[in-house]
Amino acid sequence: MGVKDRTPLIAGNWKMNLDHLQAVAFVQKLHWALKDAKHDFESVDVTVFPPFTDLRSVQTLLDADKIPFGLGAQDLSVHDSGAYTGEISGAFLKRLDVASVIIGHSERREYHAEGDDVVSAKVQAALRHGLVPVICVGETSEDLEKYGASAVPVGQLEKALEGVAADAEIVVAYEPVWAIGSGQAATPQQAQEVCQKLRDVIAQRLGEDAAAKTRVLYGGSVKASNIAGFLREPDVDGALVGGASLKVDEFASIIRFQKHVGV
Ligand code: PGA
Repeated sequence: MGVKDRTPLIAGNWKMNLDHLQAVAFVQKLHWALKDAKHDFESVDVTVFPPFTDLRSVQTLLDADKIPFGLGAQDLSVHDSGAYTGEISGAFLKRLDVASVIIGHSERREYHAEGDDVVSAKVQAALRHGLVPVICVGETSEDLEKYGASAVPVGQLEKALEGVAADAEIVVAYEPVWAIGSGQAATPQQAQEVCQKLRDVIAQRLGEDAAAKTRVLYGGSVKASNIAGFLREPDVDGALVGGASLKVDEFASIIRFQKHVGV
């Protein structure tokens, strides 16, 4: 498989921003902006990851207006149902046409003490319910100093892939913690180096076919002005975008990276 046979994926992680009314307005505006720009919707997959309370409204809009964006959730429970106050089952997400779910985001790892065991259990929960796990891995600046760029994300991915079948659809996102929300993105070369190592992990754990078809994203201070550099790299198949996915024009421009990527 040629390197760029994988359809690029631009994923917008809204975090705890936009209520359901704002979310609906945002998705409509984004769709119009892309249509106005004569965007080729086939050329790149777009997924938005709204807060849980927005999912039903966004799903209804995507469906009614035939907007070709994927719908994702930002988290899920390790459990399927039961006495787990505040938790959301993958089964409920599936019923809302949610297709994918972010797992292991550094904000969950840091503020909710989610370690590799929880991440692994959530990957299993997502797959059990037919959801594509978007597995986030990345090193802190202390990790970077101590172990270099790739050791921590490689270790995190190895754990997350334990028990995953070779034919399972997954997405991997390399998100250096020091680059998230800092305005200081990794360089395309740094992203490529780690994304390539992550693809090697997929090859070792799930086989060459899985490695060839799995999309590995870069995330951390991605903007319209730097997206093209990342997507030029052979092992970077898209981006997980936080802050810049909350601005219609900026996010539309990121989605239209092919217009400024020069490929
Ligand atoms: P950022 O966030 O684009 O605001 O840096 C990325 C992320 O946390 O997924």
